[in-house]
Amino acid sequence: MMNKDFDLKAFLLENKIEVEKRLKELLNSTLKPSLLFNAMEYSLLAGGKRLRPILCLTASRIFDEKSSKALDCACAIEMIHTYSLIHDDLPAMDDDDLRRGIPTCHKKFGEATAILAGDGLLNMAFEVLSRQDIDPLTSIKTIRVISGAAGSLGMISGQMKDIEAEQKNISIDELENIHMEKTGALIRASLVSGGIIGNCDEKGLNNLDEYGKLIGLAFQVTDDILNVTGDPLVMGKSVGTDLEKNKATYPSLMGLENSIKYARELIEKSVSHLRYFNITPNPLEDLAWYILNRKK
Ligand code: IPE
Ligand code: IPE
Ligand code: MG
Ligand code: MG
Repeated sequence: MMNKDFDLKAFLLENKIEVEKRLKELLNSTLKPSLLFNAMEYSLLAGGKRLRPILCLTASRIFDEKSSKALDCACAIEMIHTYSLIHDDLPAMDDDDLRRGIPTCHKKFGEATAILAGDGLLNMAFEVLSRQDIDPLTSIKTIRVISGAAGSLGMISGQMKDIEAEQKNISIDELENIHMEKTGALIRASLVSGGIIGNCDEKGLNNLDEYGKLIGLAFQVTDDILNVTGDPLVMGKSVGTDLEKNKATYPSLMGLENSIKYARELIEKSVSHLRYFNITPNPLEDLAWYILNRKK
């Protein structure tokens, strides 16, 4: 169950403010005002839950509550996530008009600029990672984890399979693999990179990885559910689009009720991996339940 005395709302807000302040600084210190800057800033600072950077920071703070050593790593992950959304929304991909409550990057700036804004954010992320003010070996470890997760063995592979699945019938196992790659991989990497910066031991990193694997899958199952049941005004993106595009999703393959049940089971299982850390309250536990109960 969730920690009784833990104020999740305040925790999310505090972390979001910290991340957004640093995102602004990083963007402004790297890039001069230009059309490219405007498009990158437009999508990066449009809002969003900032879940991945919050997971990264929270994992990094397991043994040192006050540390902000992982802040730049957290921001780099949010840059990668935002780039993936810009490209995911393009006409050649999901062709969506609304994201984070405002017109998608290509609707606002045109397709060519949106593609380049995504490319810009992806590369800026790795520049930020390489400049982290931490021990260089630790820094390289985070780069390895994040590039692996974001690349053609992780998120990109999942995006490719997701598109291929529009043309064929797939099994639940295949869908699980798509979800774990397209969404789970970066969520896992957020936790593991945070854990690496926060000096977790090998066992701790494995537990963070297992927890991340389960919440990552639950996150995308919930995204599928919200695409059916969500309120577009709250979500800031269109709903009903998966059905329109004949996407393979959990609700389309196992039904809505079973999907909700399955997401809950995944979250219950995920928090068992937090016992290893033996701390209460552990905000990661509340974050897991938030993933299930969120409305956007
Ligand atoms: C949406 O991610 C895309 C998926 C991987 C499901 P989020 O739901 O985290 O989107 P933001 O960052 O809050 O806008
Ligand atoms: C997005 O998945 C995954 C990535 C961007 C890597 P979806 O296409 O299902 O997410 P939404 O619903 O557009 O946010
Ligand atoms: Mg997609
Ligand atoms: Mg999409």
